[in-house]
Amino acid sequence: MKLAVIGTGYVGLVSGVCFAHQGNEVVCVDKASEKIEMLRSGGVPIYEPGLKELIQTNTAAGRLRFTTDLADAVRLADIVILAVGTPSLPNGEADLSFIKQAAREIGEAINGYTIIVTKSTVPVGTNEKIAAILAECTDQPFDIASVPEFLREGSAIHDTLNPDRIVIGTASELAREQLTALHAPLTSNILVTDIRSAEMIKYASNAFLATKISFINEIANICEKVGADVTKVAEGMGYDNRIGRSFLKAGIGYGGSCFPKDTQALIQIAGHVDYEFKLLKSVVEVNQDQRYNVIRKLEAILDNLQDMTVAIWGLAFKPETDDVRDAPALEIIQTLLERGASVKAYDPIAAANFSKLLTHPHLEYCESKEEAARGADALCLLTEWKEFADIPLPELERLLRKPILIDGRNVFREEELSQTSFIYYSVGRPS
Ligand code: UGA
Repeated sequence: MKLAVIGTGYVGLVSGVCFAHQGNEVVCVDKASEKIEMLRSGGVPIYEPGLKELIQTNTAAGRLRFTTDLADAVRLADIVILAVGTPSLPNGEADLSFIKQAAREIGEAINGYTIIVTKSTVPVGTNEKIAAILAECTDQPFDIASVPEFLREGSAIHDTLNPDRIVIGTASELAREQLTALHAPLTSNILVTDIRSAEMIKYASNAFLATKISFINEIANICEKVGADVTKVAEGMGYDNRIGRSFLKAGIGYGGSCFPKDTQALIQIAGHVDYEFKLLKSVVEVNQDQRYNVIRKLEAILDNLQDMTVAIWGLAFKPETDDVRDAPALEIIQTLLERGASVKAYDPIAAANFSKLLTHPHLEYCESKEEAARGADALCLLTEWKEFADIPLPELERLLRKPILIDGRNVFREEELSQTSFIYYSVGRPS
């Protein structure tokens, strides 16, 4: 099939590349000419394991190309996939201006029957608005569908090529057939629904996963007080198939470009129909507060952070990505700086992006984890990059001025720590 993918962010780029890998002819479109230039010359604007290689293979095979010319790409396409950003507005609602603009441009360009698929996460009812914009701009036949994306950053290629399910929301029989055929090589779990349910499935899924995280974080906070171990509690819960093992890792709260934005958006969506989503509001509140446990634990040991030097390991919102959007590290470092501490921060790949969001005379970005730890009064581990777990603890003890370790991701094991003099706090485990 001939596809045009509008927007080369995570979702657009990864889906475009994976569809090309399945043998489709794909054109990825973006307004940002520097991004397109970069992609044409073999570069990749985001870090995602395996993506660069897959782009190279499929570009070389002639199945994948990049352009800024939306009209040209859309004219030639059977299916147009909308994957532009829907960032949060200050009130938490999704900003649909990129979607609406793209819909207008698509409407002006389509040439013959075209299926327009929305992969961007959009509030319920948005696809109908897209259809109305398209109808204003063209008299060519078209159908719309909502096919939400469930990939995770850091494992985006794997998730796209091996999805748990594909949801196709459409009212059109022809669109259902074509989209089922497009996705059939990926999974047999294809659920066809009405458009509004498909839009809702995306928000409900992210909200539920966020709820699992806040739930286990609260259990962890109670475990700390009653002397239980949250990792064992989560394991014991996870054996129950009704609960499941995943997303029960206690930590410093969720971040990233999806959960914070989508939970807020769903609260707003509910609010617009006069429904107060109390549970989800609490999930957000718990998540917000969880980050400050790192500061509370530090202050419980050091008393006062003024003039202390704190090493930070990990800036990305999760490992295997250079994405720092809504990363818990942002607020934690800002708070440390506000309380008079100096910060030495290290991340294997996210420091460059982080430094675009935060610079401060007392914040130093370091080239290695050892450099960040050297001479610091305490170390906080905020992202569970594998290289952090690999450091021999006696070496870390020698690097730090004081052997204080706040492990925000439960990376280190108690057995290893018992051989050292570390003052160690993790999340929901006996200290
Ligand atoms: C999330 C969803 O998992 C994807 O299904 C969805 O497609 C995507 O949002 C999206 O809407 O685009 P992502 O944000 O890339 O994917 O990353 P996750 O692996 O879900 O992690 C999100 C945050 O939750 C991270 O900060 C992670 O550290 C935290 N987390 C995750 C925990 O604290 N505990 C866990 O057990 C799992």
